[in-house]
Amino acid sequence: MSMIVRRLSRAATAGLVAAAALTAAAHSAEAADTLGSAAAGQGRYFGTAVAASHLGETDYAATLDREFSSVTPENEMKWDATEPSRGSFTFTSADRIVDHAQSQGMDVRGHTLVWHSQLPSWVSPLGASDLRTAMNAHINGLMGHYKGEIHSWDVVNEAFQDGGSGARRSSPFQDKLGDGFIEEAFRTARAADPAAKLCYNDYNTDGVNAKSNAVYNMVKDFKSRGVPIDCVGFQSHFNSNSPVPSDYRQNLQRFADLGVDVQITELDIEGSGSAQAADYTKVVEACLAVSRCTGMTVWGVTDKYSWRSGGTPLLFDGDYNEKPAYDAVLSALGGAGDPGDPGDPGDGASCTATYTRTADWSSGYNGQVTITAGAEPISSWTATVTLPAQQSVSSLWNGTPTWSGNVMTVRPSWNGTLAAGASTSFGFTAAKNGSDAAPAVGSCTAS
Ligand code: G3I
Repeated sequence: MSMIVRRLSRAATAGLVAAAALTAAAHSAEAADTLGSAAAGQGRYFGTAVAASHLGETDYAATLDREFSSVTPENEMKWDATEPSRGSFTFTSADRIVDHAQSQGMDVRGHTLVWHSQLPSWVSPLGASDLRTAMNAHINGLMGHYKGEIHSWDVVNEAFQDGGSGARRSSPFQDKLGDGFIEEAFRTARAADPAAKLCYNDYNTDGVNAKSNAVYNMVKDFKSRGVPIDCVGFQSHFNSNSPVPSDYRQNLQRFADLGVDVQITELDIEGSGSAQAADYTKVVEACLAVSRCTGMTVWGVTDKYSWRSGGTPLLFDGDYNEKPAYDAVLSALGGAGDPGDPGDPGDGASCTATYTRTADWSSGYNGQVTITAGAEPISSWTATVTLPAQQSVSSLWNGTPTWSGNVMTVRPSWNGTLAAGASTSFGFTAAKNGSDAAPAVGSCTAS
């Protein structure tokens, strides 16, 4: 059962009926200059990989909550973590991250559905037909659980070999199902959650080279044949052996020109001081120069928990101090001013919420609430809707609800980031149970 349905099952019972105001606006008191709010000023998200096991650490959670507008579970959504034995799904750790993110108004990237690594041992011995069935069941199980809650999914990860050949990597999927497994995974994923952006994700594809050419040709082929792909993820793990390529922007742009979004998905750059800061600046500037580069994710909050901790590749040191690389990223995002300066992203964040009934029948109706950002870009919003006492909500889409009596507080599922004046909406189906009255939309707050 999906999280949304699980939460909405609490909707049925009573409370008060608030009359009226269908539009409300409010201002966030939150100050501006964080990575997430600065990126929102550029119409982008700024995310980080998160490990569920660190969420209980006060400084980790505080840094995460303050700075980032998107999270990617670092390991918790992988196949070995979510389906350790066939058909038996476990979402405890991933749910913890998703719940935390949603409670803070952050969006969630899904990582990853089909990958040769971190596969549980039962997968590799399967024969071709069984493997195909298992792959599709895994996609459906994972995407179904988080339906409507993930802005982008890494559907297939790292399917191409390194080196000059441009060939597919040997894996159970490649070896038994052939090239078509990638296309099949994307088609299954589209049906499982039509609202999620579907990405192919890989490393050492950040510049123009044989491997990125092979991915490029695959994406071009998918677009020409209508295979559903929306985005390409560039992991961007850099160090002295694999520096930020000089043609990084050019490479992002050529993929964008195929008609897909591009995202920087696992950014880290080994080093320190001004040299590391300068490399981070190059990456942020490359993304900002490509209009279809929709967001950046660093692969961890603090150096001490990085998979490459010895290379100190992240924006916060082990004591959560901001490094020169942090200042460089914030500055490149246009967010380095003092909080309260006019024009700083987030200072005047505001939104309005407007309700309309979009369908009506004797026993129920569909409602839609449109959220519109005010004069400044926003990275998240929260709207409250009070339902007449008799009514109950059976489903809700494009938003994440929490309940107190019959007051529904809705935060974004994937649609938190809005440019100034831009709109998004969430919808819901309600049972009238004898009351045809309209729900009341209360405050809309933004950050
Ligand atoms: O949780 C267990 C723990 O119980 C056990 O005691 C310990 C012993 O080794 O292992 C722990 O699991 C480790 C897990 O990270 C959680 O910390 C695994 O061994 C370790 O292999 C795993 O590494 C992850 C790696 O993917 C696995 O391939 C890294 O955290 C994660 O950052 C890394 O992320 C990948 C992306 O998914 C894909 N792109 C490359 C990127 C970096 O390798």
